[in-house]
This record gives sequence, structure tokens and C-alpha cells, in this order.
Amino acid sequence: MDKHFPIIYLVGFMGCGKTTLGHAVAERYRADFVDLDDYIEQSAGMTIKEIFAQRGEAAFRTMEREALARLSSGAMSAPLIVGCGGGTPCHGDNMEMMNSRGLTVWLDTSNERLFERLAIARGHRPLIAGLSDDELRLFIEHHVTRRTPYYVKAASVFDSTLLEDEEQVEATARKFIETYFNPSCAV
Ligand code: S3P
Repeated sequence: MDKHFPIIYLVGFMGCGKTTLGHAVAERYRADFVDLDDYIEQSAGMTIKEIFAQRGEAAFRTMEREALARLSSGAMSAPLIVGCGGGTPCHGDNMEMMNSRGLTVWLDTSNERLFERLAIARGHRPLIAGLSDDELRLFIEHHVTRRTPYYVKAASVFDSTLLEDEEQVEATARKFIETYFNPSCAV
């Protein structure tokens, strides 16, 4: 197996578009996409919500770190895009590990856009599941401020504001490929 394919790590706050854009780019570029949360769920045989509820956040962070290390050192047969969790870069030396192994890209968008996306997708995210709209706005403001110093350690920043329908996803994925890959290899 060729281990020299690039890895791109997508980092950024919940709702910034890591999964949506990661899937879209991987499909068009014939890369592999792994959503770190899905990978953890498959390894643990539990949902993220169950892991938080039954084992707590600290245990989740340990599992997240192990999953990230496993993915980063595994054999690869194509470029790999990893969609991290919103908190992945903010714990331990995860950011340093990702920066030493591949290209980290911070998907950045406004707090208002994050709110719009998260307000309709709260249920499966344990950190925000029980919040009212006002509480969610405050949560976003508070956590984005606390987490930005970690996100800025990414090697690159990419605007992920326009992912609201298929056309926007297509256009943003193309722009991502032009920026980070060889566009002539896109399908
Ligand atoms: C978290 C974000 C989630 C998931 C977990 C914790 C966070 O991932 O890893 O619920 O700390 O921001 P997404 O950013 O993919 O929702």
C-alpha cells in the first residue's frame, strides 16, 4: 500500500460543514472521506450521544485521540479527507499531530450561519441537544471564542459559508479542489 497519499484534516466548529464538504470533495476527487465521529461510533459500537451519556466527555476525548492516531497512521490507497469533530483540535496534542501528518484546513463561517445550521440539527449532538435558541446562540459565541485559538493553528483557512443547497455545495467543493488539489484530477 502506498502510504504517501496526502491527508487533509477538516477542522472547525460544529456546523461549519466538515462532513458536507468532505463528502462532496471526496466524491469529486476520488479521495476517501472519513468522518471521525462515524469512525469512533463504528469502533465503539455506540453513538456519540451514548458515549457522552454513559462514559462521559473525558472518555470520548480519549477515544477521539486514539481514532485520530489510528486513521493518521493507517495504510492508504487514495488521498484521505478526515472530517474532525468540532472539539478535536482543542484537546491534547491533536492539532500538532495533524499538522505533522497532513494539511489542516479550518472551515470558517459566521456564528449566525453556524446557528442556522445547528438549530435544525441539535438532536444528535450531545453538547447542544437540550439548548433553546437563545442558549444555542450563547453557546456558539462562547465556544467559538474559546476554540478559535486552536482553529487558527490550522495550516489554511477556507470559507465554508455557502453550503446551503446542492448548487452551493458543488461550487464550494470545486473551489476547495482548485485550492488544495490538482483540479485536472477532479471528476
Ligand atoms: C463536538 C463536536 C461533534 C462531536 C462531539 C463533540 C465538539 O462533532 O465530535 O459531539 O466538542 O464540538 P461535529 O463537529 O462533527 O458535530
